[in-house]
Amino acid sequence: MPTEYQPLLVRDATVDDIPALAAVRSSAALHKGRLRDAQNPTFRYFVMRHGEQVVGFLSLVFRRPASWLNADDTWHLPEINDLYVAEAERGKGYGTLAIRAMERIATEAGHQQLYISTEPVDNPRAYSLYQRLGYRPIQSEPYHHLWAAVDGEGHTDRGEAWLVDMVKSLV
Ligand SMILES: CC(C)(COP(=O)(O)OP(=O)(O)OC[C@H]1O[C@@H](n2cnc3c(N)ncnc32)[C@H](O)[C@@H]1OP(=O)(O)O)[C@@H](O)C(=O)NCCC(=O)NCCS
Repeated sequence: MPTEYQPLLVRDATVDDIPALAAVRSSAALHKGRLRDAQNPTFRYFVMRHGEQVVGFLSLVFRRPASWLNADDTWHLPEINDLYVAEAERGKGYGTLAIRAMERIATEAGHQQLYISTEPVDNPRAYSLYQRLGYRPIQSEPYHHLWAAVDGEGHTDRGEAWLVDMVKSLV
């Protein structure tokens, strides 16, 4: 069931969304991989639409997919992941609305907390946005995180980040 906000629609992505998602960011293979993971209800992949236009995407993770390096890690869940708004569409409130939509879904699923991680040094705007929305840092210093995930064509994407995990109480 789509969660509708004016003027943003946040709904589960489908294969038909892949070309538009790939136009916003990354290869079709990455989005295919996320849709494969979303066949399991413990991982949801959402497209953000404004009218006919795809403006971004994000995922809501209740259990980390098997295709992830840290699949067995069960701490700090559920978490918002992969939040991305198209460059030309930033600063219009879409990120805020999408996060609120995830909070509502997590609450309806019975969760009392929601997590999000970001890089406070490299991404201070996202960090301050999350703080403004009520997310509090768990660690006092960023920690080094190595990640890897298998895309929809079987290639492994890898990267690293200096993250701080943030949490918000939903009650
Ligand atoms: C972080 C991000 C998702 C925010 O989405 P958004 O739709 O711009 O968010 P909102 O419009 O709801 O809020 C924007 C606020 O965040 C700030 N902001 C953060 N990054 C911004 C950016 N790149 N461009 C414009 N504003 C940005 C603005 O200052 C604005 O503050 P204001 O409300 O005081 O004006 C988006 O900038 C983005 O996709 N960035 C690249 C990917 C990324 O960093 N994802 C987060 C990974 S943890």
